[in-house]
Amino acid sequence: MSISILAICYIIASVTYILGLKMLSHPATARKGNLIAAGGMTLAIAATIFLYTNDGKPLGNFGWIFTAMTIGLVLGWLIAKKVKMTAMPELVSFFNGMGGACAALIAIVEFDYMYRANLNTPDVAFSSVAHFGHYLAIIAGSIIGSTSFSGSMIAWGKLNGSIKDVSFKGQHFLNLIVLVLVFGFAVYTWFSPAGHANIPFFITVFLALVYGVAFVQPIGGADMPVVISLLNSFTGVAAACDGFLYNNKAMLTGGILVGAAGSLLTILMCRAMNRSLKNVLIGSFGGTKASAKAGPATQKAIKEISLSDAAMVLAYAKKVMIVPGYGLAVAQAQHSVHDLEKLLVERGVDVRYAIHPVAGRMPGHMNVLLAEADVDYDKLLEMETANDEFKTTDVVLVLGANDVVNPAAKNDPGSPIYGMPVLNVEEANMVIVNKRSMKPGYAGIENELFYSRKTSMLFGDAKKVLQELISQIKEI
Ligand code: TAP
Repeated sequence: MSISILAICYIIASVTYILGLKMLSHPATARKGNLIAAGGMTLAIAATIFLYTNDGKPLGNFGWIFTAMTIGLVLGWLIAKKVKMTAMPELVSFFNGMGGACAALIAIVEFDYMYRANLNTPDVAFSSVAHFGHYLAIIAGSIIGSTSFSGSMIAWGKLNGSIKDVSFKGQHFLNLIVLVLVFGFAVYTWFSPAGHANIPFFITVFLALVYGVAFVQPIGGADMPVVISLLNSFTGVAAACDGFLYNNKAMLTGGILVGAAGSLLTILMCRAMNRSLKNVLIGSFGGTKASAKAGPATQKAIKEISLSDAAMVLAYAKKVMIVPGYGLAVAQAQHSVHDLEKLLVERGVDVRYAIHPVAGRMPGHMNVLLAEADVDYDKLLEMETANDEFKTTDVVLVLGANDVVNPAAKNDPGSPIYGMPVLNVEEANMVIVNKRSMKPGYAGIENELFYSRKTSMLFGDAKKVLQELISQIKEI
């Protein structure tokens, strides 16, 4: 009886994952979708703990289970509560690494059972006593989970600045050798004597950990979110392998969904930057292409605009397009930009936001940021629509965005961002760029837009500048 209730719980959980994922695709429903999927996950966990039986015996070990869960819950809650919005990608990477580690540990424990069960025939080949399907799920789960764990930890370190990019000639070839060794030892484990299969197995796991480090280490900082998304899909596949091992439908569905969603997100992000996955993985984007980097030798002139002039221009414009970027998130100026928008709308100005798909540091970063300030979703224009609108726009207000408005992506074949679709803000009548200095953006390259005759620079922290613009406009 309890088995069928367990199966029903797993089906309900699986449905909530799919629903949650669907709802996550729109900012208006994302929060609810997240809660629904989390509710389904809680149901699946509770059902496994209380309803699962093995040969009629319940799971037991409740003390261990609840102690571990409480520690994980408290730590996860505290870390997630404390994290700043701008540090979200590194948190996602850290949590993904933990998921990969869990998936790998489950597979390792299952290997240990399998290995011990065959110790009475130590000299017979492991392949003739062990179940192949079972072994396949174990070895895939431990390799993919371990790679995801170590790779995510490196990505986490790179994003928080504690690990620097290291790349050397022949690095990709060396990585390939490590990968071949991983598969070699995985095959060798299967054919080795049952009494010694544990040694090549643990060498396989160790090499998979090394591969995770070696694979992520040379990838440029700007590509980290793409890599994290890819590693996320790895963790999903590793969890699905564990779902096979335990014949656990909720784990299997969850793993497959994470694997598929992670892969799709990786593809979509690559498309938004007009780059292939291969280029992301071996291109060292954001690396050291000296010719394309901003340097002190630049002597070109820029034009500055005062706060009062900027306020005047905005107040008397008919159509204003706001381009938010990473700097807006750093300044936490989402509420101020919404206040400016409301003020301008009250004065009869048509105000919209142009959203670049990779503005900020994570997928949907600007949507989430503006949703936090209750900005109307209808005011957010996707890149293609916004690009059609710039020609008829009086003023574009660029707030802490840089790479996503850099014309080098269209004009300079030597630029590391060449080919990435960008917002054509220079097509508007006038462009006001707010940032704190002439420092480059994430790709570390110069931006010709700042020197264009249409552009005026408005230096300062985005929040402060916006607040001052608001008080000046109120007086006009
Ligand atoms: P960036 O090119 O990184 O530029 C942000 C700008 O904001 C900087 O130039 C900085 O200049 C300015 N800034 C920082 N703090 C500020 C503050 N408090 N007030 C005002 N300005 C501030 O940002 P973007 O245009 O949003 O482009 C995102 C980049 O990340 C792209 O290269 C993209 O490819 C990359 N990327 C994003 C993703 C996703 S999924 N979003 C994934 C992979 C890569 P100052 O220091 O002079 O102020």
